[in-house]
Amino acid sequence: MAYSLGLGLTNECNLACAHCYRPTDGTFRLSLSDVRRICESLPIGSANLGTGENGLHPDFNAIVEHLVDRGILTGLTTNGYTVQVMPDPLLKSLREVEFSFDFPSPQDQDRFRGPGSWDLAMRAMERCRALGVEITIIAVMMRTNYRRLPEIARLAHTHGANFRLNVYQPVKSDAYSMTYEEFWEGWRRLFEAAGLVSTTEPIVNAMLGLNSLAGCACGRRTVRVTPKRRVIPCVYWQGDGLPLERLWELREAIFQSDDFCAARLVPAACRGCAFEASCAGGCVGRRLLAGDMAAPDPYCPIIRHHELHMTARIAPGKALLKSGSACTTILRVDGHQGTLP
Ligand SMILES: C[S@@+](CC[C@H](N)C(=O)[O-])C[C@H]1O[C@@H](n2cnc3c(N)ncnc32)[C@H](O)[C@@H]1O
Ligand code: SF4
Ligand code: SF4
Repeated sequence: MAYSLGLGLTNECNLACAHCYRPTDGTFRLSLSDVRRICESLPIGSANLGTGENGLHPDFNAIVEHLVDRGILTGLTTNGYTVQVMPDPLLKSLREVEFSFDFPSPQDQDRFRGPGSWDLAMRAMERCRALGVEITIIAVMMRTNYRRLPEIARLAHTHGANFRLNVYQPVKSDAYSMTYEEFWEGWRRLFEAAGLVSTTEPIVNAMLGLNSLAGCACGRRTVRVTPKRRVIPCVYWQGDGLPLERLWELREAIFQSDDFCAARLVPAACRGCAFEASCAGGCVGRRLLAGDMAAPDPYCPIIRHHELHMTARIAPGKALLKSGSACTTILRVDGHQGTLP
C-alpha cells in the first residue's frame, strides 16, 4: 500500500490566523535527512506540505526536489508566501498547490488573515495558473463563514481552481466551532449552490447515503509527521505521538502502534448503525477534540435521533491529492450531473 504523507516541515509562518492549529511555543523544523529517512521507511505515494508556511524552511527547495525525485506526488498548502519564494521549475514539479481562502472578499479575508493576505494568495494563485500548475482553493468551514461558503466555491470556479473544504477543528479554542445546527446548515447551503465531487468527511458521506468509505483515513492510510518530529495518525491528534526515530524501527508497523490503533476504533454506540462500516464513528480528530474519542462524531444526527434530510447533486471532477488522506470534501459549482438519493 502506498500511503499519504502529511509533512509539516516547519511551524513558522508569516501570518498569525486566529483559527490556526499550528503550535506557536517555539520554532520547530524537520530536516532534509529526516525527510529522506521517512521516505525510506514507508512506501509513500503522495505527500502534502502543510502545518506552517513551508517556504520559510531553509532547506525547503531541496526537500521538495527530494520528494519529487523519488516519484512522490507532492502538494503544497499555502497562504501564497511559499509560492512567491519558489523558482518556476520547482513550482511546476508540484502536483497541486492549495491556497487558503476563508472569506470570499478581499476585505473579509484581510480582516481575518491580516492585511495583504488576499493579494498575496491571489497573485501566487495566478502565477501557478499561468505556469499550468493545478490549483485548489481550500476553505475551512467555521462559525464565522459557514453561510458564505457558496461564494468561496464560486470564487474558485471563477479562477479556474478546484474547491476543497475542511471543517474547523477546535485544537486551541472552540471560538470558531459550529453548533450542530450551523454545521448542517452550512452543508445545506453549499449543496444548494455546488455539486459534490467527493467527500471523505465520514458523517457527511453517511448522511448523503453514499456509504463509500471504510472509515476516515486517519490511522488507516495516512501518516503525519509534525515539525516537532512526532508521528501522529491525524493532523489534529492531541497526544504526543511517537518520536520520529520510532518510525525508523517500526516502518509500516507504525499502523499497529497504540495511537494508530486508537484512531481506528469504532465507538460502541455506532454498533448496528447502517453506516457503521463506512462512517465508522465519524471524524476521529473531531471526536478526540470533543473530549471523548469513544463517542460518535458530535455532528452525528443518528445518535440524536434527528431525521436529517441531506441531498447533493453529483458533479464531475478529479480526485485531488488530499481527497483520500483527510476528512475533506471537494465541490464544484458548474456542470451538475445526476442527483443523489
Ligand atoms: C495550517 S495551514 C498551513 C498552510 C498555509 N499556511 C495555509 O494557511 O494554507 C493548512 C490549512 O489548515 C487550515 N487550518 C488551520 N487551522 C485549522 C483548524 N483549527 N481547523 C481546520 N483547519 C485549520 C488552514 O486554514 C489552511 O487551509
Ligand atoms: S497562514 Fe496557515 S499556518 Fe499561517 S497562521 Fe494562517 S492558517 Fe496557520
Ligand atoms: S452512529 Fe456512528 S457510524 Fe452511524 S452515522 Fe453516527 S457516527 Fe457514523
